[in-house]
Amino acid sequence: MTTILHIASSSNLHTSVSREIGQATVDELQRAHKGAKVITRDLVQNPVPHLTPAFVDVMYTNPDAPELALSRELVGEVLASDILVIEAPMYNFSLPSVLKAWIDHIARKGLTFNYSAVGPEGLLKGKKAILVLGRGGIYSSGPLQAIEHQESYLRAVLGFFGITDIETLAIEGVGYGPEKRAESLAAAKAKIQTLEARHAA
Ligand SMILES: Cc1cc2nc3c(=O)[nH]c(=O)nc-3n(C[C@H](O)[C@H](O)[C@H](O)COP(=O)(O)O)c2cc1C
Repeated sequence: MTTILHIASSSNLHTSVSREIGQATVDELQRAHKGAKVITRDLVQNPVPHLTPAFVDVMYTNPDAPELALSRELVGEVLASDILVIEAPMYNFSLPSVLKAWIDHIARKGLTFNYSAVGPEGLLKGKKAILVLGRGGIYSSGPLQAIEHQESYLRAVLGFFGITDIETLAIEGVGYGPEKRAESLAAAKAKIQTLEARHAA
């Protein structure tokens, strides 16, 4: 049975494009993978805290410490999943801090990555990720490309964890007026039908 981890991180609970397309993606994956289980983490309605000094004190030395209980739970959700659907609005050229806090909790040596004599090794190989990105401007081409730290960062950190099968649904230029917004939403909806992750898990 396929398990989907659905991560939401837009603080806009009413008109968020990443929430709209992210939910449509999960709905489509559930249609394609009959009986799929969905684990939902809404990092805005149920935020994870920033890392505390107590967390950092034990993170390398005592993996069973009570301070790491939430981290173990979040890592467990990732390990249990075949497909990660990660919604990420662009905030100040990067991720919302709630999503970064989640990443800080799941970046755990021995669980999601390891260091060996030849360097770092990701431990999440074989999983798929779909990034659902909301952006006010256009970063896939043109002058803003150089200051895009949203998709590039997510691909880098997921790659560090060993996840390289990554597809992107970018809803760009939503700040350029209602027409552009509607056009970007329609393009993303059409692209959902072409996702490789619909076919295999
Ligand atoms: C706090 C904040 C910061 C933002 N920073 C940027 C930015 O740096 N670049 C950009 O193109 N759009 C920026 N935007 C616009 C959002 O990326 C845009 O509204 C997008 O639709 C957000 O995704 P969502 O609709 O899923 O919330 C920002 C919006 C907010 C609320």
